[in-house]
Amino acid sequence: MKYHILLILACLAAPAMADESLAKAKNCMVCHATDKKVMGPAFKDVAAKYDDASTVVASIKNGSKGKWGAIPMPPNKVSDEEAQKLAQWILSLK
Ligand code: HEC
Repeated sequence: MKYHILLILACLAAPAMADESLAKAKNCMVCHATDKKVMGPAFKDVAAKYDDASTVVASIKNGSKGKWGAIPMPPNKVSDEEAQKLAQWILSLK
């Protein structure tokens, strides 16, 4: 029980870090960086383009093509909850 409370506190204290490590764990950072284009667009540029998380969630889950260039993004293996967390983290980078 005590351990759980500590974990929750740790997550509240560092939300941005927690979600960047989720992006790393899900291999997003192989093709993306927060502030420069790699294979895919910089997450800061994505944040500047969208206000609504639902479009971003759909792209993360289903993949995306033709919006940023010639290279498509394949669908990613993430749960609804993970896609939501990642989308919120990306949009928080503006
Ligand atoms: C194999 C490389 C690759 C991986 C892995 C990858 N992406 Fe992408 N991503 C891309 C490319 C390329 C694009 C541009 C697609 C386009 O032009 O529509 C993109 C686009 C995006 C966009 C913008 C979509 C839009 O609707 O404009 C978001 C958000 C995104 N990626 C998030 C993620 C997240 C989160 C992960 C990890 C779960 C991830 N990507 C993993 C290559 C990748």
